[in-house]
Amino acid sequence: MSKAIAGFSKLAKDEKIEWIAKEYFANPEEAAALVRKYWNNDAELQKLHDEFIENTITNFYLPLGVAPNFVINGKEYILPMAVEESSVVAAAAKAAKFWAARGGFKATILGTEKIGQVHFMYTGDTTKLQAFFEAIKPKLISGTHELTRNMEKRGGGITDIELRDKTNILENYYQLHATFETVDSMGANFINSCLERFAKILKEEAAAYSGFTSDEEDIEVIMSILSNYVPGCVVRAEVNCPVEELTVEKDIDPEVFAKKFVTAIKIAEAEPFRAVTHNKGIMNGIDAVVVATGNDFRAVEAGVHAYASKSGSYSSLSHATIENGIFRFWIDVPLALGTVGGLTSLHPLVKFSLEMLGKPSAKELMQIVGVAGLAQNFAAVRSLTTTGIQQGHMKMHLMNILNQLKATDDEKLEAAKHFETNTVTHAAVADYIETLRKVNPTLIEKDFLQ
Ligand code: MEV
Repeated sequence: MSKAIAGFSKLAKDEKIEWIAKEYFANPEEAAALVRKYWNNDAELQKLHDEFIENTITNFYLPLGVAPNFVINGKEYILPMAVEESSVVAAAAKAAKFWAARGGFKATILGTEKIGQVHFMYTGDTTKLQAFFEAIKPKLISGTHELTRNMEKRGGGITDIELRDKTNILENYYQLHATFETVDSMGANFINSCLERFAKILKEEAAAYSGFTSDEEDIEVIMSILSNYVPGCVVRAEVNCPVEELTVEKDIDPEVFAKKFVTAIKIAEAEPFRAVTHNKGIMNGIDAVVVATGNDFRAVEAGVHAYASKSGSYSSLSHATIENGIFRFWIDVPLALGTVGGLTSLHPLVKFSLEMLGKPSAKELMQIVGVAGLAQNFAAVRSLTTTGIQQGHMKMHLMNILNQLKATDDEKLEAAKHFETNTVTHAAVADYIETLRKVNPTLIEKDFLQ
């Protein structure tokens, strides 16, 4: 039987939950109770979260962890990281500490240009369209004045509008390709509002333009939207040190490590299968800070992966060299971020994260996020080229396995001790807990009585 429903969005939150529980769950009471268990007791706070999106039924938790000891351009930070994957925060903290002792991270803004486009079709003569565009360009700018006034006061606005002939990739296809400076806001709403105004002006002016005399010269606007590909909005994060200071493990020669590390980066530069995983590791750090600071991680992901393919082949975002005895490791990453607007002043934990970072500007946040990506990448490639990642990863994953096995607090303590010197696998932990329970059943009882 169909479960289609009309007017779902009009139902009250409780009614929505009741309906879902009844229609989709074997035990409706249990399902509804679970959903309600995740509501916040503070009704006002819950209402705030309910209103972020439509049809909210509850909250979906992600842990907010912190990675201390980051030194970026000489300033100390503790990074907020919202992420579910064990070992990401620990890896970031480890890399931060390592590089803090070697001068810290350096980060430079290479550009802050945002892009938006009005996509339209035109079948007439291109030179006529060009003349029309030149004639109306001042009107495109002046016609958006009331939208750009506030942004201009903050030092931003529209930086340019070009007519782009794209007929080589699609018949009759042209664009207004506009560039923007959005200062401390990510700028999506500002850009999209400007673009929709450009489209309106474009159509009105084309209808009234005396140079257009035939139907061929009609302009059909297809859509107006910002681009999440921002190759001109890029931060560079970097670390460097003399090779002999790369003392990552007691028994590993720094020079051997440095060479192996650089080779691992070269593999990621050359080989897309490796590059994707390599960049995924970078995104572990980037997304965690992007989410914690209320930014749009989907936009960042889309833009970053397009940037990683800009040579025509998907490649590593990070690079490393050894020159004159100096190890250098850096990343260039496109990041359209905001520290005002959007969720930044609405979500209490986003406000918390931004205050913890010292209320950064968007540029400073770009630097912090770029560094989070580089630190994460350093930690991953360091593990991969030395111990392998499973050792650290499974240690951090131990708690998840113990929770799956419903281990008590005492059992967790015993297990943590045991697995300091033993390899963590799901089976090994399960065996260990089983043995523990046989030997000492009171460990379980004691915890239940608490
Ligand atoms: C796991 O989330 C990320 C890594 O696979 C990244 C990498 O391989 O570089 C460890």
